[in-house]
Amino acid sequence: MIQGKLVRLRSISRADLERQLEFNNSLEVELAGGGDPPTPQSLERLQADYDLESAKGGRDGPSFAIEADGKFIGQCALFNFNQVAQTSEIGITIGDKSYWGRGFGREAIRLLIDYAFVQRNVRKLWLHVHGRNLRAQRAYSACGFVEEGRLRAHVWSDGDYDDLIIMGLLADEWKSTKAESPKP
Ligand SMILES: CC(C)(COP(=O)(O)OP(=O)(O)OC[C@H]1O[C@@H](n2cnc3c(N)ncnc32)[C@H](O)[C@@H]1OP(=O)(O)O)[C@@H](O)C(=O)NCCC(=O)NCCS
Repeated sequence: MIQGKLVRLRSISRADLERQLEFNNSLEVELAGGGDPPTPQSLERLQADYDLESAKGGRDGPSFAIEADGKFIGQCALFNFNQVAQTSEIGITIGDKSYWGRGFGREAIRLLIDYAFVQRNVRKLWLHVHGRNLRAQRAYSACGFVEEGRLRAHVWSDGDYDDLIIMGLLADEWKSTKAESPKP
């Protein structure tokens, strides 16, 4: 649906679930993504969740498979819309570790930012990221996000406490960045 130079953002299909299962059961990927402590997941449960959602029919929400080199490599999404303040949270996980640190995530984030501001008229995007997740912070900063707050020693992750950083990006800031640089 949305084509970049390195990645394509498209609908998540049932055929993606086997790769998604590998990502969900990878301790490294789960810890990098933050959130709840990692727990195992079976293919049956993953498929059951998918089937429940698709049985509702209609359209997918603003959540995308990330495809690169013809392979499903992860997911990204907008969630927690606040219609009054016109804000939305943004999230991404590249589950295929061989694609980390090569600019694929950064491009997917840029495409999703553009979709949020241009297609959905979001005014501000924000996110949480763990203090030790420097790779993600650098990728977000490169896309224009700035640190807006830091909750010190706020989360427990992989045997230690970590800071929880809030980052944000305003639509106006994105528009001025885009005016200075080529399309994402
Ligand atoms: C976070 C994520 C989307 C970033 O995408 P990516 O394609 O890996 O990132 P990019 O290659 O665009 O940029 C990574 C940046 O981190 C740097 N980097 C790479 N590995 C690093 C490491 N181990 N430690 C610190 N920085 C690192 C790169 O040099 C680059 O920064 P620079 O351009 O300023 O030099 C992706 O790594 C991912 O999905 N990781 C697992 C899940 C996750 O962390 N999700 C985010 C939760 S908030």
